Amino acid sequence: MLLEVRGLGKQFGGLNAVKDVDLDVAEGEITAIIGPNGAGKSTFFNLLSGFYRPTSGSVVFKGQDITAKKPYRTVREGIARTFQTTHLFEDSTVLDNVLSGRIVRSRSTVFGAVLQTPGFRREERLNLDKAREALEFTGIADFADELAGEVPQEVQKRVALAIALATEPELLLLDEPAGGITEEETTRFGELIRRTAARGITVCLVEHKMSMIMSLADRILVLDHGQTIAFGTPDEIKRDPKVIEAYLGADDEEED
Ligand SMILES: Nc1ncnc2c1ncn2[C@@H]1O[C@H](COP(=O)(O)OP(=O)(O)OP(=O)(O)O)[C@@H](O)[C@H]1O
Ligand SMILES: [Mg+2]
Repeated sequence: MLLEVRGLGKQFGGLNAVKDVDLDVAEGEITAIIGPNGAGKSTFFNLLSGFYRPTSGSVVFKGQDITAKKPYRTVREGIARTFQTTHLFEDSTVLDNVLSGRIVRSRSTVFGAVLQTPGFRREERLNLDKAREALEFTGIADFADELAGEVPQEVQKRVALAIALATEPELLLLDEPAGGITEEETTRFGELIRRTAARGITVCLVEHKMSMIMSLADRILVLDHGQTIAFGTPDEIKRDPKVIEAYLGADDEEED
């Protein structure tokens, strides 16, 4: 297993935002995490990526215990993430945003940059190549020189993904990657996620858009009030009475 989560929990005061969650993710799989608002999905991602320190349980990644490692450590280990609210450097170009993802893979020091050492220049070229490749892959190369704050929402979502890809992750955590984009854009984004997984990158995604989840996910984890209420294939989840009650029924009414 690439990722092994055992008994993971996070309390905020008296609230169990995540409680006793187990999850195994095999390499190359797409796992979706669904559940009503406030179910603990983003908290779960924050625990995996080291943004929050768990109250209980463990996270093992590539056989190594990474429980409570800091975000810069988890990203070096190969876990990249995007956020529910896209945070870009809005006054920087799309390319510079994607280059920021290269920082975790860079060895150069300020001295190297000031002195323009061969090692620094080599790394700079490599970073540029990797960033451009991420832009190509996510289909936004044409926007490279535009300011990130001025490109359409769909492109911004892709920039966030490109930044994550530029870190060369093995596990990618996407928190509502299709939030706030149209149905057509969502379909295209789904295809992009599928191509990402086909590259050998393991994907976990939180998403409310059920049609996207059902067509993409190999396995689905359903959280409610911080706890697992179901885990299985899309077909199993669709038929699960607990899921229908907690989530799908309500969601059908929300969507037109
Ligand atoms: N930093 C925090 N401090 C206190 N409570 C928090 C914190 N982060 C999350 N919570 C609480 O934990 C619970 C789970 O929140 P979380 O954001 O993980 O839900 P979610 O499933 O991602 O919801 P949504 O679908 O709305 O994004 C909520 O009750 C939330 O208010
Ligand atoms: Mg959330």
